[in-house]
Amino acid sequence: MRHFVANVATYTIAVLLVLGSALFAWMRSAQLVLTNEHSALARYEPAPAHAFEWRELGEHSYARNCQNCHGREGQGWDEYPGLTDTARLFAAPGGREYLVALHLHGLTSPRWGAPMPPMGHLQDVELAAVLNHVLTHFGNTPPAGTRLYVPEDIAALRGQKRSPWEVNALRPGGHAQGPEE
Ligand code: HEC
Repeated sequence: MRHFVANVATYTIAVLLVLGSALFAWMRSAQLVLTNEHSALARYEPAPAHAFEWRELGEHSYARNCQNCHGREGQGWDEYPGLTDTARLFAAPGGREYLVALHLHGLTSPRWGAPMPPMGHLQDVELAAVLNHVLTHFGNTPPAGTRLYVPEDIAALRGQKRSPWEVNALRPGGHAQGPEE
């Protein structure tokens, strides 16, 4: 009888393990489908540069890829900088390239306690859209007459290889100072 009970217990545990892993696999794949942006991207590609509709994609991309660190309103927190000054960086000489390089290769600087992770896995269309979103929100106003990003701007800079420290050297307006106020 003891053996019988032990066997039943063993089989029960084995079956529960199999069911549990199947459930986990199913949840994972369902989650992947939920965060799949291909259906959203399909509506944007291929868009001619002058007709680049970035607003909806940029907003969604910000919520999915940036908000955790930079805050819902781009206010930043703890070791993550706010994004209220991004339009000024964008308008400074070299700023256009800096912001793209920062997303493609990440950023490590002495200013903040954490690195910015590379976002190069996002497609050109999504990176251009999310950059434009930041440049038009959180108090940012790009200077009148400037051209916002189009996917081609991202594509043009993809081939470069840069370390996150090299990206810091591209930052307009000095990069060597200590923590920012
Ligand atoms: C895991 C956290 C994290 C995520 C996710 C993240 N960032 Fe960052 N970001 C940082 C940190 C930390 C820095 C500062 C890095 C440094 O200076 O060393 C930074 C820096 C920046 C800067 C440059 C600020 C400056 O003053 O030079 C911009 C712009 C920026 N992030 C935008 C974004 C956008 C847009 C996204 C989403 C596509 C994003 N970040 C996703 C953590 C993150």
